[in-house]
Amino acid sequence: MDVADLVDTSTGRQSRSIYSSEPIYRQELERVFGRCWLFLAHTSQIPQPNDFFRTYMGEDDVIVIRQKDGSVKAFLNTCTHRGNRICRADRGNARSFTCNYHGWSFAPDGALAGVPLENEAYFGELDRSKFGLVPVAQVAEYKGLIFGNFDPAAPSLEDYLGDAKFYLDVWLDALPGGTSLVGETQKMVLNTNWKLPVENVCGDGYHLGWAHAGAMMAVQSMDLSGLSVGNSSANLEGGLSVAGLNGHMALTFLDGVSGYAFYPDPKPMLDYLEANRPTAIERLGKTRGEQLWGSQINITIFPNLQFLPGLNWFRVYHPKGPGQIEQWTWAMVENDMPEEIKATILDNQCLTFGLAGLFDNDDGDNLAACTEQSRGWRTSQMDVYTNMALGRSGAREGFPGDIAAGLVSEHNQRYFYRRWQEHMQASSWSDVPAYNLNSLASREAVDA
Ligand code: FES
Ligand SMILES: [Fe+2]
Repeated sequence: MDVADLVDTSTGRQSRSIYSSEPIYRQELERVFGRCWLFLAHTSQIPQPNDFFRTYMGEDDVIVIRQKDGSVKAFLNTCTHRGNRICRADRGNARSFTCNYHGWSFAPDGALAGVPLENEAYFGELDRSKFGLVPVAQVAEYKGLIFGNFDPAAPSLEDYLGDAKFYLDVWLDALPGGTSLVGETQKMVLNTNWKLPVENVCGDGYHLGWAHAGAMMAVQSMDLSGLSVGNSSANLEGGLSVAGLNGHMALTFLDGVSGYAFYPDPKPMLDYLEANRPTAIERLGKTRGEQLWGSQINITIFPNLQFLPGLNWFRVYHPKGPGQIEQWTWAMVENDMPEEIKATILDNQCLTFGLAGLFDNDDGDNLAACTEQSRGWRTSQMDVYTNMALGRSGAREGFPGDIAAGLVSEHNQRYFYRRWQEHMQASSWSDVPAYNLNSLASREAVDA
């Protein structure tokens, strides 16, 4: 397998084998999920000492635990004796984790705290210090989002996020009260390769007016059919596709209100925005406070975290082999919001993007079929293209990143596959380029 042949960002080509091949998938677990900063939990999910939250890094099951001193650690959810799972609950508060098989127990700091028959069976010769839980090499937080990284040589989380923080902060730092995820984890198994939902949300404005036409009409009589035939210049030019932030992306309107246009009764949300806009402008500056806060924004943190201020859903995709994912979704709120608005957001998130969400149902079958149609002997030898608007990106005053005007483009998807390829080709972080995407040279490399 030559990774150089799988993706060609100069023409927007991807080999379909990247959605179905088992060897490529195993390499992704090592070079993408084994190396990148992966979202673990929001601080609102583990506020107290000994609170824990169980999640995945790639296919590795991990427990994220708030420590007595307020810091956060994460460990592989596997017993160091014979390998059993030590925690079956999704979340909770625990003073210890005791293995079901032979009863070894572990403290929240990962130390092996108890071994049945330690003296009688091991004759007191077991060195407990060598059998603590295996920690995730790096755990760090950015404004409420806790990430983990298996690679001790990875750059800091701050450096990894880089210029994407400009867009992240539109939700994370607009108001002084901070943010939370609300509701239980909404888990859905989908028979799709993990990259397809990421590229769908990171940049595919093309499908909105077509695949979601019915859902848009149902939710609030919104007709975006112009997007799909390209005759609605206002919609095309009223947004930006922003990519190249070291693999992270934003797809955003610029009107400061469109995120709340998807609510059946937008008035309370719009009142909230206007009441708090002066604070948002003070904290974020005029450009972000006026044009981005309140807008519909799709934010992607490479490789598998996406969230949408506005529609207010927050999601991580856990790969389960080349053809399957577990998709985990929550509703996201600002803590300064009145309780009624938080409740409305949770309701609306379930209505649109959730287990029975109208939009998720539109997307699910399309993504599953794109995966299935890339699995055959013949189809796996074919290519697909994200070649829309090649060469039509550039810098834009006040916004970091390489930017294509308009929501309908495949600009962001090309950057996603470019970053994927860079990781897949690199044997370690020292071979992964960190580039300044505001330079013309790097734009030419992608969109020449
Ligand atoms: S496998 Fe956990 S105690 Fe034996
Ligand atoms: Fe969609």
